Amino acid sequence: MHTFRFRNNDTIPALGLGTWKSATGKVYEAVKTALDIGYKHIDCAPIYGNETEIGQAFGESFSSGILKREEIFITSKLWCNAHAPEMVQPALEKTLADLQLEYLDLFLIHWPVHFVPEVVFPSSTDQFIPYKELPIAQTWEAMEDLVAQGLVRHIGVSNFSIKKLQELSENSQIAPEMNQIEMHPYLQQPKMIEFCNTNDILLTAYSPLGSPDRPADLKAADEPLLLEEPVVQKIAEAHNVSTAQVLINWAVNRGTVVIPKSVTPSRIQQNLEAADLNLSEEEYREIDTIDRHRRYVTGEFWAPEGSPYTIANIWDE
Ligand code: A2P
Repeated sequence: MHTFRFRNNDTIPALGLGTWKSATGKVYEAVKTALDIGYKHIDCAPIYGNETEIGQAFGESFSSGILKREEIFITSKLWCNAHAPEMVQPALEKTLADLQLEYLDLFLIHWPVHFVPEVVFPSSTDQFIPYKELPIAQTWEAMEDLVAQGLVRHIGVSNFSIKKLQELSENSQIAPEMNQIEMHPYLQQPKMIEFCNTNDILLTAYSPLGSPDRPADLKAADEPLLLEEPVVQKIAEAHNVSTAQVLINWAVNRGTVVIPKSVTPSRIQQNLEAADLNLSEEEYREIDTIDRHRRYVTGEFWAPEGSPYTIANIWDE
């Protein structure tokens, strides 16, 4: 299994199982299958609504002695309604209890937007808290405390721009160690890769297959389908593999962690095998040419009229 290194030389497996949209009733089997066939990395979040069921899979796998907890890299995330510093540790403790764990390998601030406590998805703009009332650096200090206590091994962020990463790095004891963002051939983010390489920040690519199972209200009518991209299809055919496998391999090859989601055993298996394909340099370069800076997860849901958050101030683009 390919791995990447944190600043302290700890490693993270390059491929993990994504669990956003993995329905309850299915995610237990998906995680069990993944752990059984050799996945060493599972990506979770409380907002996915399935951590209790994932916890059953962890609990059984670790208590049966088949797997040791320390062999598996587990990530979870802090939801936007628990960014007040005093809420960070209780939120982590809830996630640890649900996942039946004593510690996380990686804990991320899920989005750079704050909601008032208890609100899961704001239904009115007064349920957002603007940055000026709650600087992200304050949430981050509480994240740093969790490392000091041994409750999490590594801390990072998700959906952060270069500007926000830079600000946080300058105002912290522990600079963010990971940024988990949407990345795939239609959203390659070369400047982000360069910035993170220079500053020793790892990147995880979410929605690497273009997130085709997103709810309809998060989809644009005219959106291009990554799994049907002709250049990727041509390369997949040449190697007798699936387009998903080419997309996963491309992500690992460019030095990013990748977390394809699946609840289908045969796909969970083929996605694991994808990291070991041998594509040619020429094929990787051909995929590099199809970038179109296309986000599937736009952040629009945090930017209704009147919200302190806009597409521009979320992505700083
Ligand atoms: P399923 O979970 O039903 O197997 P992303 O990781 O970009 O969010 O994409 C997840 C979507 O891609 C899910 O609909 C998942 O379906 C599907 N998927 C995962 N692996 C593969 C694969 N190897 N081939 C085709 N579709 C896949």
